[in-house]
Amino acid sequence: MIAIDYLKEAVAGTVDALVVLAGPDTALSAAAALADAASAGAVTAAAAAARFDGEAGSIAELLAPAGLSCRRLLLVGTGPAAKLDAAVAERIGGAIAARLLTSGETMVYVDVTGVCEGALAAHLAHGACLRSWRFDQYRTRLKDKQKPTLAKLAIIGGGAGPAVTETHARLAAIAGGVARTRALVTEPANVIYPESFVASAADLAALGVELTVLDDAQMRDLGMGALLGVAQGSVRPARILAMRWNGSGRDDVKPVLLVGKGVTFDTGGISLKPPGGMEDMKWDMGGAGAVTGAMHAIAARKSTAHVVGVVGLVENMPDGNAQRPGDVVTSMNGQTIEVINTDAEGRLVLCDAMWWAQETFEPEVMVDLATLTGAIIVSLGHEYAGMFCNDDGLAAQLSAAGSAVGDKLWRMPIGDAYDKLIDSDIADMKNVGPREGGSITAAQFIARFVKPGVKWAHLDVAGMVWASKPGALWDKGATGYGVRLLDRFVSDNFES
Ligand code: BES
Ligand code: MN
Ligand code: ZN
Repeated sequence: MIAIDYLKEAVAGTVDALVVLAGPDTALSAAAALADAASAGAVTAAAAAARFDGEAGSIAELLAPAGLSCRRLLLVGTGPAAKLDAAVAERIGGAIAARLLTSGETMVYVDVTGVCEGALAAHLAHGACLRSWRFDQYRTRLKDKQKPTLAKLAIIGGGAGPAVTETHARLAAIAGGVARTRALVTEPANVIYPESFVASAADLAALGVELTVLDDAQMRDLGMGALLGVAQGSVRPARILAMRWNGSGRDDVKPVLLVGKGVTFDTGGISLKPPGGMEDMKWDMGGAGAVTGAMHAIAARKSTAHVVGVVGLVENMPDGNAQRPGDVVTSMNGQTIEVINTDAEGRLVLCDAMWWAQETFEPEVMVDLATLTGAIIVSLGHEYAGMFCNDDGLAAQLSAAGSAVGDKLWRMPIGDAYDKLIDSDIADMKNVGPREGGSITAAQFIARFVKPGVKWAHLDVAGMVWASKPGALWDKGATGYGVRLLDRFVSDNFES
């Protein structure tokens, strides 16, 4: 991720890359107009040649422009001034980073004077940070031309003072959380498995997060037969990790509980998945990744809220010791479950993790995130995560947080008619319903493990944690979906 700097005024001497801004109808910013004059109209000429329309994030690029003291000038669109909010500023920053990341330039100066100052400047920088994140750990033969070069972005004319510094500090904490999540999601399953996931979170303690780990023996004593049934086919022992941040300074504030599905690899188990695309199931811990990244963000920015993140970590493998279709397991709260399909394992992990977390932390609100069903991708594609919720107020809070940061949510129905579909002939419930409404019956299953009085939302993020093509704020690959959503949900609703 690139570094960010804030400068009062333009630097003397030749710089690598300079960005100036313009709105629709090539409405040049003051800095853009200066550059245009110094280059004898080369900026406006380039804008015309590139059919530059000033749309937010659109770019006209000039290489080695005569008369200007930069190697490369980017005229970047801001869209209409009236619509330039935090999200648009982030998109602009993302576009700049995407264009320059492997351009050969190491440093870019962005002159935002008069256009995108104060907190908006910090959001532009945030967009550049998020978009510049890459995972090159295992690429040992990258050609020089493919290597990222951009290391730093300096904002010129963004202003100083609390608006910038406080916003920047908060956004840097959030970017750190997003980066943590993306790395967890990207790492392969031979690197990230339940024990190594827990080990990777150890450094959260330095941010003030209190960590608790349950091992398999403890989970057995607690009666977590559903979670352990999934884990029993793997040589990798299961874990539950709880991460607690109490920024309220009080002991009587009930926490917000975040629970994540952390299936570090999902083969389907004995109900084995087909081979095509199975490698994607390394990111079946995306819910757990988002919860962990959100805890990082919340702690790093010293939130005044009381938040607990709990992740249920298992690997779902076929094996001589794996559970079989038809097996009946008993969850921690004593309910029995007929395992019709061992590939519907996420709900089996969540039900025990959620029950233990509710018993242990007595939350007022619980939000779970899970890459739970392929069916949610059929319903919503890759634009919205599905939200299932037992409380209209909570649903509204989550929706608002999601649209504010661009992690969008679409509410889906739940109710008794769907609940009946998972009744079993032999046990209290079965772990799958009919094919139709597959995401909804999955949510109904989880709903059976929500304690009375707890406001609860289940976010099915299966379509959101991994992207097959680049977006405004991410490259293809791990998106970090959910971190900004949860952070915003907490800051808007649970801070003093
Ligand atoms: N992890 C998968 C869901 C998934 C599928 C996430 C594709 C991302 C992309 C989950 O454990 C699963 O296998 N669900 C089954 C449920 C079915 C057996 C009722 C599914 O969606 O097919
Ligand atoms: Mn599965
Ligand atoms: Zn799964």
